Amino acid sequence: MRILGIETSCDETGVALYDSERGLLEHALFSQVDLHADYGGVVPELASRDHVRKLLPLVRQVMERSGTAPADLDGIAYTAGPGLVGALMVGACAGRALAYGWDVPAVEIHHMEGHLLAPMLEENPPAFPFVALLVSGGHTQLVDVRGLGEYELLGESLDDAAGEAFDKAAKMLDLDYPGGPRLAALAEKGDPSRFTFPRPMTDRPGLDFSFSGLKTYTLTTVRDNALEDGLPDEQTCADIAAAFQEAVVDTLVIKCRRALKATGRKTLVVAGGVSANKLLRERLEAALAKEGATACYPRHEFCTDNGAMIAYAGYLRLKAGQRADLGVEVRPRWPM
Ligand code: KG4
Ligand code: ZN
Repeated sequence: MRILGIETSCDETGVALYDSERGLLEHALFSQVDLHADYGGVVPELASRDHVRKLLPLVRQVMERSGTAPADLDGIAYTAGPGLVGALMVGACAGRALAYGWDVPAVEIHHMEGHLLAPMLEENPPAFPFVALLVSGGHTQLVDVRGLGEYELLGESLDDAAGEAFDKAAKMLDLDYPGGPRLAALAEKGDPSRFTFPRPMTDRPGLDFSFSGLKTYTLTTVRDNALEDGLPDEQTCADIAAAFQEAVVDTLVIKCRRALKATGRKTLVVAGGVSANKLLRERLEAALAKEGATACYPRHEFCTDNGAMIAYAGYLRLKAGQRADLGVEVRPRWPM
């Protein structure tokens, strides 16, 4: 089977071709980061318009580069939610229309399912069942994954997502959007022991998260140490970044260990933008080794949004017999 995957839920236009015999054939991504940078965050209307501009050229590009004709396709998968409604509409309308025009089935994909299946595109892919930690700009969830579509939510953030907290803390330190990777880079120059940030909700049982208090704590620390221009000196900013990152990573690791213990699983899949974080990977590696468990990640470029994970999820869903009908429906909020 050969599947075209389309991702447009936020600020990346991603297109890919997955072939069940040959693996990932092609993928192309256009990131809108520069477009939104001046506004300090994603502007939904601008995102939608840019998806309109970029999507079909990217589809043409992956089809041509892989020597794929429409007749070679067995289906088209597109992200139907969750995400920005206008942005989702672009990918869904285009995906549905192309599938109709090329006379192949279409299938709707849940964006977070795409993320959690992304490590299956790598060598030594994880096998069901496993626990997944989904950490992106919009979600922080621990999920018990028994099989395709068999998901039990074990815990989630009650307020901000981990990536969102990274982005907001980065803004307080005057770092450009998207702040997560920039804060992580700054943290490398910092002393994580100078400030001690709280590890929210780790002192009581349960697998839920809360990151909004950490945001307030960061703001207070920035203000308490600010110079005349409103920011602490460079080293202090790095120390705050390091303390913040420590706190988020520590909290995530504690809950992952708890989730593995509670379910008895030995494999942890970590996906979503924050799974690119180096410290998180190092700490999980060390913590899981003690428990005889292993962690699986997508390759770096597939941690954040991409079309490859949607093409792959589409392949599994189509193989399982799932089809989208002719109506185009997107779900900005969509529990997994
Ligand atoms: O999965 P993703 O591309 O988009 C969503 O579905 O949200 O995740 C983007 C999020 C952003 O909040 C970004 O700051 C964060 O992932 N992120 C990171 C790192 N790389 C991306 N956060 C911490 N450390 C990183 N290295
Ligand atoms: Zn995502």
